Amino acid sequence: MADLIQKLDETLAFLKAKHIEAPEVGIVLGTGLGALVDEIEVEVEIPYHEIPHFPVATVEFHSGRLIYGTLSGKKVLAMNGRFHYYEGYSMEEVTFPIRVFKLLGVEELILSNAAGAVNLDFKKGDLMLLDDHINLQPENPLVGKNYDSLGPRFPDMSAPYNPDMNRAFEEIAQEKNIQIHKGVYASVVGPNLETRAEYRYLKIIGADAVGMSTVPEVIVANHMGLPCATLSVLTDECDPDNLAPVDIQDIIETAQKAEKKLVILVKEYLARLSLA
Ligand code: HPA
Repeated sequence: MADLIQKLDETLAFLKAKHIEAPEVGIVLGTGLGALVDEIEVEVEIPYHEIPHFPVATVEFHSGRLIYGTLSGKKVLAMNGRFHYYEGYSMEEVTFPIRVFKLLGVEELILSNAAGAVNLDFKKGDLMLLDDHINLQPENPLVGKNYDSLGPRFPDMSAPYNPDMNRAFEEIAQEKNIQIHKGVYASVVGPNLETRAEYRYLKIIGADAVGMSTVPEVIVANHMGLPCATLSVLTDECDPDNLAPVDIQDIIETAQKAEKKLVILVKEYLARLSLA
């Protein structure tokens, strides 16, 4: 089997041949959160299944395309649809695109996801900026041989979400009158939603929100020294004492409604961003 470095080389060569040459910011769009893509002046669009070593997205509401173009004057490379461990991919596959982003020259990474609100002061439809996370995924993408050319064996995680990026998002939110919480995201494998006892547990261990993604990607971004920020759209309230059955369609609709706020924040963030 080809090793990770060889796979990355092949993917990079393919994307560069498609004229994806100088992306500045990487964007990963979560479940129900594809509308930002409509704002991009698209130069190149490639379905995942055409990209060497990209797994094929299987969750039907993910359209699974890599998009390169301009958004708010910045060259962006966006993943419309991400890979989840619960779909059966390995952690290497889930995080492979993040490594590709960094090696293509991406300087910052912005991720989004749909998450349940464990902190009951936060409401359905609200946004939360990740300040920190708890990794409850059953595997870690850095297990196995460490490629020193990609990053250190024992990466620091004292600030997994870049404080400068978070500050900029908070400032923009304030100026635009968009309420934004800050909190801790717990990443579980899913695909089932949580039990009442699990929501109680998540609250006790310090989570404000829970979802099934993001943390593996953020671990790899930190491994490679790629600054990142994540915005969660809170799609349901995880109140163990009043737990209504969670309807995935409702989650997607809530994400889509709240997405307008996310689009404003990301566009304005990019407009103000000055890269080295
Ligand atoms: N739990 C896990 N993942 C989720 C949830 C939830 O309540 N809501 C949206 N994604």
